[in-house]
Amino acid sequence: MAYNLLKGKKGIITGALDANSIAWKVAEKAHEEGATFVLTNAPIAMRMGEIKVLAEKTKSEIVPADATNVDELTNLFMASQEILGGKIDFVLHSIGMSVNIRKNVPYTSLNYDYFMKGIDVSAMSFHKMLAVAKKLDAINEWGSVVALTYMAAQRTYPFYTDMADIKAMLESIARINTVSQSPTKTTAGTGIKGFGDFYDFANSVAPLGNATAEDCANYCITLFSDLTRMVTMQNLFHDGGYSSTGVSMEVLTKLGVEPGV
Ligand code: NAI
Repeated sequence: MAYNLLKGKKGIITGALDANSIAWKVAEKAHEEGATFVLTNAPIAMRMGEIKVLAEKTKSEIVPADATNVDELTNLFMASQEILGGKIDFVLHSIGMSVNIRKNVPYTSLNYDYFMKGIDVSAMSFHKMLAVAKKLDAINEWGSVVALTYMAAQRTYPFYTDMADIKAMLESIARINTVSQSPTKTTAGTGIKGFGDFYDFANSVAPLGNATAEDCANYCITLFSDLTRMVTMQNLFHDGGYSSTGVSMEVLTKLGVEPGV
């Protein structure tokens, strides 16, 4: 059900690679809620991805941009304002990639060139986007910018390696809102070793179970809307209660503890 929450709003949505991407769901919901927006992704991802299907479905245009490249980001913000006919009301940063994770490099022997690449793509890109937007004065007053993150920024997880440090950096950039999402079955998510076990564990711990990509999209839409305009500089957990749970009965039962004993 749509509520017209984003009627008349203009946005930029990064990171829609395929129908599993969180950004894909955000674009679908933003369209349903009356927004117009530009879709963007790295040129290489667009050759592999299905973004054109999404653009047709949401009546949006695509402007390619590598989020590590300031010139391409400048073009993105300039072209988006031209296409949408004015300043931008909302931006979704939904970009994550670690070469160390892709290549299964353990945390204790990280490759630092890969680490730098991961920082640039997944954290510094957020600063670059915001700096470009500021320079061009491209964001409307009361505009909303949201980046997606993961709780590994605060707590340790095996196999999340340098991405944990990178997410911590992302969350400290600009101190706008970040949404810390449950494990989600996407290309970036399932690339992490042991992801299926992370996913099942979080699902067993969270009182409401894992939040889906669609739930995450709904939350992002509220953050882009006027209803939450005084929410800023927050890291917002969107995880079915996982971050506030010590241990659940479900996990204890799996460990052999009998209820009520
Ligand atoms: P995804 O793989 O669908 O999206 C990642 C996107 O980053 C892709 O569209 C990819 O093309 C884009 N990207 C990579 N390098 C880029 C570059 N240089 N320039 C522009 N775009 C680039 O996966 P997902 O899960 O939707 O990821 C979106 C965000 O959500 C990421 O920040 C991720 O860390 C975060 N997140 C994901 C969770 C999960 O379990 N899937 C959990 C918590 C947060």
